[in-house]
Amino acid sequence: MPKQVNGPKRGPAIQNELNDSVKEEVKAFLSDEDKLHLLDDLTKVNPVTTTTVLKCLQARYTVDVFYTYAGCSLVAVNPFQPICCLYSLELMKEYHTALRPQELKPHIFAVAEQTYRNVESQIEPINQSIIVSGESGAGKTWTSRCLMKFYATVAASSTSPKGNETVERIEKRVLDSNPVMEAFGNACTLRNNNSSRFGKYIQLQLNRSQHLTSASIQTFLLEKTRVAYQAPRERNFHIFYQITKGATKDERMEWNLPEGASFFWLPNSERTLEEDCFEVTREAMFHLGIDRSTQNNIFKILAGLLHLGNIQFSDSVDESQPCEPEDNAKGFVKTTANLLKVSVEELLETLRIRTITAGKQQQVFKKPCSRSECETRRDCLAKVIYAKLFDWLVSVINGSIYADSLVWTNFIGLLDVYGFESFPENNLEQLCINYANEKLQQHFVAHYLKAQQEEYAAEGLEWSFINYQDNQSCLDLIEGSPVSIFSLLNEECRLNRSSNVSQFQTRIENSLSNNRCISRDKFSKKPNFVVSHYAGKVCYQVEGMVEKNRDPVPLELLQLLKNSQDCLLQKFFPMTEKSQNDTKTQNRAAVVTVVSKFKGSLERLMQILHSTTPHYIRCIKPNADCKAMTFKKEEVLSQLEACGIVETISISAAGFPIRVSFQSFIERYKVLRKSRTLNTVPDENGFSPAKKKRGLTQTANNDEGLHFVIHDLLQKMTVGQSTVSLKQTEAKSNSSSMYCGKTKIFMTNSMLEQLEARRAAVLSEKAFCIQCCWRRFKQRKLSKQRWSATIIQAAVRSWLAKKHFQRMRRAATVIKHVWRKWKARMDALAAKELDCTEEKLHSSVPGATIFLDQSPSPLEKTWPLSAIIQFWPLGLVLSTAPVTVVGFRRDSSLLACLKILHRNNGYKVESNLFGCGITSIRALPQGSVKFHCKKSPLPHANISPHNQACMITGFNQILLDRKKLLTT
Ligand SMILES: Nc1ncnc2c1ncn2[C@@H]1O[C@H](COP(=O)(O)OP(=O)(O)O)[C@@H](O)[C@H]1O
Ligand SMILES: [Mg+2]
Repeated sequence: MPKQVNGPKRGPAIQNELNDSVKEEVKAFLSDEDKLHLLDDLTKVNPVTTTTVLKCLQARYTVDVFYTYAGCSLVAVNPFQPICCLYSLELMKEYHTALRPQELKPHIFAVAEQTYRNVESQIEPINQSIIVSGESGAGKTWTSRCLMKFYATVAASSTSPKGNETVERIEKRVLDSNPVMEAFGNACTLRNNNSSRFGKYIQLQLNRSQHLTSASIQTFLLEKTRVAYQAPRERNFHIFYQITKGATKDERMEWNLPEGASFFWLPNSERTLEEDCFEVTREAMFHLGIDRSTQNNIFKILAGLLHLGNIQFSDSVDESQPCEPEDNAKGFVKTTANLLKVSVEELLETLRIRTITAGKQQQVFKKPCSRSECETRRDCLAKVIYAKLFDWLVSVINGSIYADSLVWTNFIGLLDVYGFESFPENNLEQLCINYANEKLQQHFVAHYLKAQQEEYAAEGLEWSFINYQDNQSCLDLIEGSPVSIFSLLNEECRLNRSSNVSQFQTRIENSLSNNRCISRDKFSKKPNFVVSHYAGKVCYQVEGMVEKNRDPVPLELLQLLKNSQDCLLQKFFPMTEKSQNDTKTQNRAAVVTVVSKFKGSLERLMQILHSTTPHYIRCIKPNADCKAMTFKKEEVLSQLEACGIVETISISAAGFPIRVSFQSFIERYKVLRKSRTLNTVPDENGFSPAKKKRGLTQTANNDEGLHFVIHDLLQKMTVGQSTVSLKQTEAKSNSSSMYCGKTKIFMTNSMLEQLEARRAAVLSEKAFCIQCCWRRFKQRKLSKQRWSATIIQAAVRSWLAKKHFQRMRRAATVIKHVWRKWKARMDALAAKELDCTEEKLHSSVPGATIFLDQSPSPLEKTWPLSAIIQFWPLGLVLSTAPVTVVGFRRDSSLLACLKILHRNNGYKVESNLFGCGITSIRALPQGSVKFHCKKSPLPHANISPHNQACMITGFNQILLDRKKLLTT
């Protein structure tokens, strides 16, 4: 059983004893002051009390440590001064590359990195949102800006140059959206010099490779009343101060903003803030695709609004006459009309005369307005223009950072929404803002506290419930059905009756009296109602609330703007056919009230938040004066309580923040079960791993099977850890870090880390194994291919050699055949020479040793004499070969001879008729031909005999020389 936090109710004596012991523990804890700042998680503070938590935060703040975990949330205390290297690029990289960023010091980058990795791991819900909450001036916008910078840096680490370009473009535009949105939507208030007067949810969209591809911005409830009304010591939106301070000489001329000019809607302009930098806004607008001429157009309209604010009316003497503008205001009317490009007369008429359509015939009446009505109409004109301008800017920004939904797969959402507000006088804006905060708080409560406790109960964990603050009844009071503050407000608007303030207050009181969250400030003279919000009581003024909810824009005003010649205003208020008939239908138009619009957009946001994994950053303002190094305990404590941090800490410290369904658990960690190390470990029942595997496949689809597999996994996983199963709850309660519920596994963060580490190890082991197998397979394949290539080569070569040899052999046979014929002919010649013509030969020219028979021999007919003579050394070889060698050696010698012939390209042999060397040929009586050489004919068959020795002396001489030849 998890540690008990709020135990059952005890008797007063025991309670006192406990209080004393807690006090002592607190004292002991605080006495160790030197180490307090080292506690980076408030859940580690022991005991968890407001005092200890506060002391710990203060100790850290004093040593310039501004971030501390509080279980699942991160507490960020505003330093109110730039801290060196707290958001540097190096630090971003350090968190991004860290193996476990959660183990580094608490930081918004750790949260950011965690969300980024969650997207990467693709565990449902994959999309993430970071909800940055806190009071005005606590540092929400600052934090969101830093988070955006972090993602822009981290998601830009693409390797492909094209990707880089895209990311840079998007990243730059996403970051550029900040100064533009802040210039037009932020203002200096009593609480914060740069207070966001609108809510913002920005989606940073990532593709499959985790690169920032696009983004989208959704805004909520711009405080447009600020254009026309600024509380004492507060300012209008920054952009008005920027244009009046930063315009060039020419621009001042064009926009009619002479230096030193004073405007009613520009209070406290003497104060210079760092947010007044016009150039930064202009540059950012340019990067977002708003060219200089459009910018000029925008600033002209804004200047027009400033002039509009200076139009003051005097009371009319006669009710039937319209109020006249004050004398000094006439110039402003003209300038306003010029800047907004509307006609002066039309502007004046619209501001001063009301058009009423009444009766069955839809008759149109014109009624002069009272002075205050004129002023309301003037303010309304300014508000409607400014709101349209702001919406248009948001749409332009969205257009420049947009990408088709096919391009991105997941997103990380950042919610920077106005904090809980309570002023001396609160109206509809505060009601909406506080309602949004209630909703967010409920989301937080539902997500971390309520869900946690309910889940524990459902899963069979014994848990002592903490009395968390459930704000459902407050939400029922504000937005519930059938009766709530919102429904009553809407009803008033729908009925379109001139509302009586005190009547409306009574209606609220009577209708909602059974809700414990509503009351009334009886000491206030003005009609009011008090709502007990989770963060404290707020008193709302009833006066003006219904009117604000209706937010009526007189159709004459819209018509005036539609008739404007200014191209931007024409874009904001397009002329449609419908608008021609608008005047007639104005009273019947369905009223879409401010609260219904706000409720609708908030519900859409909540739907998105519910479908994502939320992360909470709670910004704390350490003092109301925005001073550096000042930590006011009471102020911090009220904020910690307001956002439920103390409760979160208690629950997180005691419970199991991680819970995974059986199916997901098996999906993710089944690799551990199959790992070699685990499989070799026999379980206590003696099941072999093979048996277990069979068990898995057979029964995985039913609960029993799941339980079996999980039990098996847990047993293997928690070697040295104590795992609590349903049956073992009693035995191993306190030291458990994992709990097996009915449908889910509960575990602590440390257990999850261990599991993940093991999983990573097993996966890398498997990857290694796959690599080995693959490499072995590749190696084997390669060697097989080599071996096959060698075999093929050998076969081809042997075939070629065989072919070659056969050809040579055939050639040799042919030569042999020819040679024999040639020899026969020679025989015949020699015989002829011997028998008939010896004398004739003697008297003939030297060198001509052979006289051919006039009648050609059969050989001569087929072979030319030159060819026969050319081949005679070969013949020589062939003739002797049969005598000395037989078989292969004979063939080889023949081949060698052929090769020589071939190599010398027509081996030139000089016959004994023309050259020297062989002195004569004689026919042997036995019938075989012998060559008579000076030397052995074989080695010198290709050497020409010397000229001197080339004396052919006839066959007798041959016979004489024969002896000599034979002896050598
Ligand atoms: N981390 C921080 N480091 C330094 N100054 C900060 C930090 N966070 C906030 N601030 C200061 O506090 C002021 C208010 O912060 P801001 O983010 O505008 O508050 P919020 O959006 O919650 O109203 C900023 O203008 C800035 O001067
Ligand atoms: Mg802000």
